[in-house]
Amino acid sequence: MVLLPSFTLLASFLALVSAQSNSSGTFTNPILPAGADPWVIRHEEYYYLLQSVSDNITIFRSPILTDFTNAETKIAFQPPPGFNYSTDVWAPELHIIDGTWYIIFTADPNHDAPPPEIDMLCSFACPAVNHRMYVLQGSTSDPWTSNYTMKSQLNTYDQFAIDGTYFQHKTGLYHVYSCWFSAYESWPANLCITKMSDPWTVSSNVTERQILSVPSNPWERTPYGRMQNDRLSSNEAPQQLDNPKTGQQFIIYSAARSDNRNYCLGQLELVGDDPMNNQDWRKNNEGCVFYQNALEDAYGVGHASFTTSPDGSEDWIVYHGMENPYSGWSARNIRTQKFTWNTDGTPNFPRPGYGPYAVPSGQNASISML
Ligand SMILES: *[C@@H]1O[C@H](CO)[C@@H](O)[C@H](O)[C@H]1NC(C)=O
Ligand SMILES: *[C@@H]1O[C@H](CO)[C@@H](O)[C@H](O)[C@H]1NC(C)=O
Ligand SMILES: *[C@@H]1O[C@H](CO)[C@@H](O)[C@H](O)[C@H]1NC(C)=O
Ligand SMILES: *[C@@H]1O[C@H](CO)[C@@H](O)[C@H](O)[C@H]1NC(C)=O
Ligand SMILES: *[C@@H]1O[C@H](CO)[C@@H](O)[C@H](O)[C@H]1NC(C)=O
Ligand SMILES: *[C@@H]1O[C@H](CO)[C@@H](O)[C@H](O)[C@H]1NC(C)=O
Repeated sequence: MVLLPSFTLLASFLALVSAQSNSSGTFTNPILPAGADPWVIRHEEYYYLLQSVSDNITIFRSPILTDFTNAETKIAFQPPPGFNYSTDVWAPELHIIDGTWYIIFTADPNHDAPPPEIDMLCSFACPAVNHRMYVLQGSTSDPWTSNYTMKSQLNTYDQFAIDGTYFQHKTGLYHVYSCWFSAYESWPANLCITKMSDPWTVSSNVTERQILSVPSNPWERTPYGRMQNDRLSSNEAPQQLDNPKTGQQFIIYSAARSDNRNYCLGQLELVGDDPMNNQDWRKNNEGCVFYQNALEDAYGVGHASFTTSPDGSEDWIVYHGMENPYSGWSARNIRTQKFTWNTDGTPNFPRPGYGPYAVPSGQNASISML
C-alpha cells in the first residue's frame, strides 16, 4: 500500500530520464510520452511543437528537438464556447508566411454529434460532418510572444475538412486538406487542393477544387486491403516536404486509419508545373513510405511533420506512433528520427523505433533540462 506510490514516482522519474538526450549524445523515443498529430517548426534558438491539449492550442518550446517532456508550454488559443470552432480542436500547425505567423487548425461545433436527420444523409455514419478548417493570425514576428486571434474559416464549401496545411509553390499558396467527395458522402477521406489568394482566403470555387489522392491501394484502406467498401479508408494529414538539394516537391500524407497499426505515410510528388492539375502529381502506389515495425513494437506511425537539425545539415521527421496497437488513439505518443534522401531525390525514411539514436547534428549533448 505504501510502496505503490513510490514505485509510481520512480517509474515516472525513469520515464522522464529515458526521454532525455544523454551526455553520450544519444536519445530515445518518445520525445513526448503522450500526444498526437505533432507539428514542429525550428525558428532561431528553439523548436516549437504544437498540440491540442483539452481543445486548447498549446505551443511547446524546447531548445532541443529530442525532448519536449520538459518544454515550456503556452496556450496560444482557447476556443470560446458556442462557436463552430469550439470543440474537437485537432492538428494545429504554426507557419510563417511573409513574416507573419499563422496557426491553421481543424475544429467543430459542440463535438459534432449530427442529429439523425443529418446523419441519415450520409453513406456511412458521419460524426465528422461539421469538421472545418480555421486560421489564427499572430500579432508579432515572434511565435512565442505573439497573441493569436481568429482570422478566418477556410472555405471548404461547407464540406468536411480536416488536417489542412499550406503548400507553397512558385505559382502561389495552396490549401491541401483531407476532404470527402461531397457534403454527405462520408468515407473515404481524400486529399483535396484549392488555391489561396492569402493565408486565410481560398480563391478556388467548388468546381475548381481538385482531388489529388484517394485511398485506392490496399495499404490505404481499413481493415487492410478491404476493397468492398470505403468504410474508414483515409488519406489525411498532408505535409509539404521539399528536397533542399534538388528542389523536388512532395506531399507526404497519412493513410489507412489513425487508431490502428496500419496507419502509415504515403507520398505524392509534384512532377508538373501546376499543383491544381491532379495529373501533375505522381502518387507512389508501391506502398507506404513509412510504416509499422512489429520487430520493435512501433505501430500506427503517421501524421508526420518535418524539420532540420540545429545546424541545418540533417532532415528529421516528427511523427506519432503506438507501442501497443490494441488501445487505439490513447496509446499514441510523439517520436522523431533522422531521414535521408534517395538518389532519385525521394525521401528515404528509416524504420520506426525507439533508439537510442544519435542526437541531431549541432545539438549540445550536455543540455539537460532536469
Ligand atoms: C544513453 O546513451 C547510451 C548509449 O547509446 C544508451 O545505451 C543509454 O540507454 C542512454 N541513456 C538514456 C537514459 O537514454
Ligand atoms: C484551456 O485552458 C484554460 C486556461 O488555462 C483552462 O482554464 C481550461 O481548463 C483549458 N480547457 C480545458 C478544456 O482544459
Ligand atoms: C456554423 O456551421 C453551420 C453548418 O455548416 C453553418 O450553416 C453556419 O453558418 C455556421 N455559423 C457561422 C457563424 O459561421
Ligand atoms: C497580448 O495581449 C495581452 C492582453 O491583451 C497584452 O497585454 C500583450 O501586450 C499582448 N502581447 C503582444 C506581444 O502583443
Ligand atoms: C468556378 O470558376 C470557373 C472559372 O474559373 C467558372 O467557369 C465556373 O462557373 C465557376 N463555378 C462555380 C460553381 O461558380
Ligand atoms: C552549444 O554549446 C556551445 C558552448 O556552450 C554554444 O556556443 C552553442 O551555441 C551551443 N549550440 C546550440 C545549438 O545550442
